Amino acid sequence: MRFHAVSGAAARRRTDCAIVGVHESGALAASAAQLDARLNGRLARLAKRGDLRGRIGETTLLDVDGGPCQRVLVVGIGGKGALTRKQYRKATLAAAAALVRSGARDAVSFLSLENVTATDAYYRGRLAAEAVGHALYRVPAIRSTRPPKAPALAAFAIAVQDRGQVAAAERGLSHGAAIASGASLTRDLANLPANVCTPGYLASRARQLAREHRSVSARILDERELKRLRMGAFLSVTAGTDQPARLIVLRHQGGRRGAAPIVLVGKGVTFDSGGISLKQPPGMDEMKFDMTGAASVFGATKAAAIIGLPINLIGIVPACENMPSGHATKPGDIVRSMSGRTIEVINTDAEGRLILCDALEYARRFKPALVLDVATLTGACVIALGAHLAAVMSNDDGLAAEIVAAGQRAEDRIWHMPMAEEYHEQLKSNFADFTNSCGREGGAITAACFLSKFTEGLRWAHLDIAGVAYLGGAQKGSTGRPVALLVDFLANHRGS
Ligand code: BES
Ligand code: MN
Ligand code: ZN
Repeated sequence: MRFHAVSGAAARRRTDCAIVGVHESGALAASAAQLDARLNGRLARLAKRGDLRGRIGETTLLDVDGGPCQRVLVVGIGGKGALTRKQYRKATLAAAAALVRSGARDAVSFLSLENVTATDAYYRGRLAAEAVGHALYRVPAIRSTRPPKAPALAAFAIAVQDRGQVAAAERGLSHGAAIASGASLTRDLANLPANVCTPGYLASRARQLAREHRSVSARILDERELKRLRMGAFLSVTAGTDQPARLIVLRHQGGRRGAAPIVLVGKGVTFDSGGISLKQPPGMDEMKFDMTGAASVFGATKAAAIIGLPINLIGIVPACENMPSGHATKPGDIVRSMSGRTIEVINTDAEGRLILCDALEYARRFKPALVLDVATLTGACVIALGAHLAAVMSNDDGLAAEIVAAGQRAEDRIWHMPMAEEYHEQLKSNFADFTNSCGREGGAITAACFLSKFTEGLRWAHLDIAGVAYLGGAQKGSTGRPVALLVDFLANHRGS
């Protein structure tokens, strides 16, 4: 896919497909009206008859003979006022989806000329490229039939008001394309079944990422090394499976040598059966998505490498399966984490925090400027925030605010939840330093409290993405979140 920005009127642009807006009232957007002058008023006539649907995200594809373009894709842009970012994204996503279904090989979108609140040329470009990347994504389905034909679309342009905005818009487009390519990697890895996407498979994809990008390197630690590091918490989770665990360390070296890195830690449970505290069958297949935190670290690293972000980034992925067997950890077992602290495993299904606490301890050796962990950690987070917003908890309110702002800019939203002293009480154990689980109340927060015991002295934030990582039902599949948020954060964070 080639992305670029163009200035100049809709009426004069030659293209396979011009994308223009129509309001709910039937009024044509300015660029649509301009184009219509070359189409002998056909758009206005259709609009008047009620044939152009103008609610946000509705689309009508028209074949037009003559004029500067072969097709016009009319996209609903709602009422008269300015579009919100979310509405602009929704309209652009719908346009991209309709475009990809058509036979058009290239397209120019004039939706970017509409009034969008708090959005400059850079973000218009970025959101547009992300939307096209999203529409082009196909799940790695494993079928016996031939895959459907790939879409014809090879080039996509957005219009800007004047020449002065071309550079910013193209920067946005290239960042958006990088984010889309990172998010596609995340989605591919997360969508793969757990019998393909094992810890060893994730390790091989890390090595592949290192081969594909000059700034990226990968190091893989096997169970022998994990034992030597005394990662007793991590090893207790993998005890019940025949699949060997891995600790994957990805690096993107984009900053000065010696500059303190940002560390991303991603939960990589390639299948979470619950272990001896076995889950219920309904929805258990979705626990193949329990490595989405890890997959988003892969995706963010890939995007950072493509963009060439001038930072040192380290991704740490503890990857394992959580399975029941005669070797599995049992409720009541006590394990010793790499930090030396002991944990009474009340519930083997609270495994994410056990692998993360050792990975967070391991992060210290990189003397990080800050550490973010990303995990499908709790069902309680899904109950609290549903499928729309992720949760962030941090030992640094400034850092949490930065992450919330990145989520807003990227349209990949996240909510700051509290982590007060009172909640820590719930993790007390009669037999060890603390327990790994303490009932349902405030479950997303108590999980964060558990992790916070291992991040003292670090600038740290925890992102619980259990609700936003994937969709269920007929739409079942990975969303690619929170790659856009992570990349926005990494691009805008100023070292401190
Ligand atoms: N992977 C799950 C969390 C999860 C649940 C992700 C639903 C996505 C959708 C995690 O390992 C888990 O099982 N958490 C338990 C913790 C509890 C035992 C304290 C949970 O949320 O029930
Ligand atoms: Mn679990
Ligand atoms: Zn889990």
